[in-house]
Amino acid sequence: MINVSKIKKGIVLDHIEAGKAKIIYNALKLDRVKDPVVVMQSIQSTGMGKKDLIKIETDFELDYTVLGLIAPHITVNFVEGGERVKKVRLELPKEVEGIMKCKNPRCISNIEKVKDHKFTLANAETEEYKCEYCDSLTKYNE
Ligand code: CTP
Ligand code: ZN
Repeated sequence: MINVSKIKKGIVLDHIEAGKAKIIYNALKLDRVKDPVVVMQSIQSTGMGKKDLIKIETDFELDYTVLGLIAPHITVNFVEGGERVKKVRLELPKEVEGIMKCKNPRCISNIEKVKDHKFTLANAETEEYKCEYCDSLTKYNE
């Protein structure tokens, strides 16, 4: 496996489903980070075949709602002084606001502009969210 050095401080997003690193990179707007960001794609993982991994070598304010919605199963490692000091498992957010779109073409939200459109998690297994206006079930990125 290619060797990418450990970081001194920052965040390592690990166990990203292969192919999803770019989506996460864009959603978190990592192009705006002025410190080193390393994206590794299709690296070998003992547990999951191939995986992606992102290292952000700076203090970065993670948007847990966006991240949890896109990649609920990743591991977030916080590194300080060259050591991992915290490891967080994400979960699907119970509620999202202003991130998702309703897939029902007749939903009021697709006819008029609505502000801070809210969805609530309806089924954690299928990752379906319920629209606050029409109760339709929608998955992120569907
Ligand atoms: N890491 C890093 N820099 C550090 C420490 C860790 O880049 N100073 C990275 C490692 O390369 C690894 C991830 O953070 O990709 C988690 O590291 P580690 O604490 O060694 O945990 P692992 O046992 O590899 O992973 P896990 O416990 O999640 O199975
Ligand atoms: Zn709707």
